[in-house]
Amino acid sequence: MTEHLGDLSVAAIWAPDGIRAQSQLPIDLPPARTDFGMPIGQALRLRRSSREFGDRVLPLQVLSELLWCAYGVNRPATADRTAPSWRHARETDILAAMPGGVWRYDAVAHRLVPFLDADIRAQTGIQDFVGTAPLDLVYVSNSELLGVESRDERYRVASADVGFIGQNVYLYCASEGLACVFRGSLDHEGLARALRLRETQFITFAQTVGYPKG
Ligand SMILES: Cc1cc2nc3c(=O)[nH]c(=O)nc-3n(C[C@H](O)[C@H](O)[C@H](O)COP(=O)(O)O)c2cc1C
Repeated sequence: MTEHLGDLSVAAIWAPDGIRAQSQLPIDLPPARTDFGMPIGQALRLRRSSREFGDRVLPLQVLSELLWCAYGVNRPATADRTAPSWRHARETDILAAMPGGVWRYDAVAHRLVPFLDADIRAQTGIQDFVGTAPLDLVYVSNSELLGVESRDERYRVASADVGFIGQNVYLYCASEGLACVFRGSLDHEGLARALRLRETQFITFAQTVGYPKG
């Protein structure tokens, strides 16, 4: 994967309340706690889609736990994940689009790797609220890891895999009082171009995350 695009500057500015990267650096995520969150039944009771977001940035600890819940390593000996995948393909990359640019989540290192030095949040969807939240997750599938010939089957399998990740994000958000919505309405080809994806990569869905408005 092309992780280094263009002339990435290395300066970054960190605000105490979260991430305000002025330009890109890798982000070492703090270890995710494993004793966080409400009982699963309560989180399921609160799970919902929200489309109104405040502009408060996500603290680094929250970003760390969100990504770990989404698709982090929960069995370090085998690098297995919090979400299942078709034939153990682990083909999904999570791109985190934030004001300071786009990063790729490296689950094994629990780290965000610079991917694109541009704020493309508004291009991750076609609805009015898109671009107003501090974080848009873009789910990218690496088709070469799927070993599936037919395009339809690739989309079917990749979409199922991403659905589990999306629900993990929903449950974390419900538990932590965050707002989020899983999204399929987006310009897949335009966004792939903006992200400079390879031919073998395709976008399945996106998910907006932030604090509720007000
Ligand atoms: C596959 C899928 C695609 C979705 N795409 C969008 C979308 O593009 N925009 C949006 O606002 N909500 C989208 N949603 C969220 C649904 O509209 C939402 O889950 C549904 O209205 C039920 O509401 P709830 O999540 O609050 O239960 C999507 C949900 C799924 C499962």
